[in-house]
Amino acid sequence: MSNRVRPPRYVVHGGVPLQGVVRVSGAKNHALAAMCAALLTDDDVVLSNVPDITDVESLGELLTHLGATVDATTPGTLRINARGLDKCEAPGDLMSENRASFQVMGPLVARHHYASSAPPGGDAIGQRPIDVHLSGFEAMGAVIFRESGRFIARADDGLHGGRVFMDYPSVSGTQNVMMAATLASGSTTIVNAATEPEVQELAHLLNAMGARVSGIGTQMIEIEGVERLHGARARVMPDRIEAGTYAVAAAITGGSIEIEDSPVLVMDALLAKLKAAGAQVDATTDTLHVGATGNLRAISFQALPYPGLATDLHAPMAALLTQAKGVSIIHERVFDNRMLYVGELRKMGAEIVNTGSSAIVSGPTKLSGTNVRALDVRAGAAVLLAALAAEGTTYIDEISHLDRGYEHLDSKLRALGANVERV
Ligand code: UD1
Repeated sequence: MSNRVRPPRYVVHGGVPLQGVVRVSGAKNHALAAMCAALLTDDDVVLSNVPDITDVESLGELLTHLGATVDATTPGTLRINARGLDKCEAPGDLMSENRASFQVMGPLVARHHYASSAPPGGDAIGQRPIDVHLSGFEAMGAVIFRESGRFIARADDGLHGGRVFMDYPSVSGTQNVMMAATLASGSTTIVNAATEPEVQELAHLLNAMGARVSGIGTQMIEIEGVERLHGARARVMPDRIEAGTYAVAAAITGGSIEIEDSPVLVMDALLAKLKAAGAQVDATTDTLHVGATGNLRAISFQALPYPGLATDLHAPMAALLTQAKGVSIIHERVFDNRMLYVGELRKMGAEIVNTGSSAIVSGPTKLSGTNVRALDVRAGAAVLLAALAAEGTTYIDEISHLDRGYEHLDSKLRALGANVERV
C-alpha cells in the first residue's frame, strides 16, 4: 500500500445561502510589493495586516535567502530588516513559487548595482513577459542580459534617472521600476504607469521611507532619486479582490453578507457590475453589504487595468453569471489566458464557451457538484463559488493555488454557513 500523502482538497456541499459578517484580510499584492521595498533600506520596515498566505511565505523565504531578516513579531505583523543583504541572486526554486518575487530585482540593482534572477513563476495565466521591467532598468542605465537562463541587470556606475515608457501599464513592472528609481541619481519619469491602488500604496510607503515619488495614482509617475531610504511602518490595505470574492459569494448563493474592512472606494467597477446584474449592494466607506434580490440578469463587462474591473475578478464574476438570466459577454483585456476556469465550470453544468480572450455565458443553469480543479488562484475562486451554489458535492483539487492568495478561506466561508471542508 502506498504511504503517499495526498495534497489537500476542498469538499463542498453546495446550496447554502451564505449569511453573516466576514472581515477582509490584507491585500496580497500590496503586501508582496511592500516586502520587496524593505530591501531598499538598512532600517526596519514593519508591515501590519499582512495576510497569512503562501505567497507571503515564499517571498519571505526569498528575502531571507538574500540576507534579510523577516520576523513575524505578532500574527499579521512582519518586521523586515535588510541590513545584512549580501546576495543579489534569486534562485530558481524560490522564484518559481511566486511571480511577485521578480520585484526584488529593482531594489537589488538600486542598492548593489547588480541583480540576477531566474524567470519568475506564478499563475499560468498567459505569457506574462517581463520586458517592461527590464526596459525600465535599461532606461536607467542598467545593462540587461541573460546568462544560463537567468536575467541579469548590471549598473556598474549605479542607476541614473531616465524616462521610462511602459509598453503596457504593468502593475509589478511599475512597482519594480519605481523602487529602483528611488535610489537612482536624478529623476525618473514613468510614462503609462499602472494606477492600481496597490501601486499607489507602495508609492506612499516609499515616501514614508524618505523617497520622493509624485504623480501617485496617475499614469505619469515622477521619482526624484535620494541618497538613502530609512525605515517605516505601514498597514497593508484590505484586499479588494478578496472583498469582491465574498461579494460574489453572497450574490451567487442567494445570501446576504456584510464584508467588513472592504476598500469600497477602490471597488467602483465591481459594485457597478454587481448592481447591474441585480445584486443588492449597500456600501459605506469601509463596509460592504451584498445581498441577493433573487433576480440575477446577464451583463457584459471587460476586465481592464484599474479603475476598470479587475482581471482577478473576471473568473469569480463569470461564475456568478452562470446564475443570471440571459447571455453575458466577458472580454479579458489584461491577460491572454485567464480562461482556465471555463472548462471546470462546464464540468459543473455551466453553459459557457470561450473564444480567445472572450467568454460567453448563458444562464441561468443548474450547477451540479463534481470533481474540478483550482487551476490558478482566481480560477480556483470561480469553481469554489460555483460549488457553493451547486447541487450536491464538489471536490476541488489543486487548492494550493487558492492558498497563495486567500487567507483562511475555508474557515471564513464556514463562519458564513458554508459547508466546506479541507481534507
Ligand atoms: C499583478 C498582480 C495580479 C494582477 C495583475 C493585473 C501582483 C503580485 N500580481 O500581476 O494579481 O492580476 O497585476 O492587475 O501584484 N506585461 C507585459 N510585459 C511586462 C509585464 C507585463 O507585456 O513586462 C503584460 C502581461 O503579459 C499582461 C499585462 O501586462 O498582459 C498585465 O500584467 P502585469 O500588470 O504585469 O501583472 P502582474 O504585475 O504580473
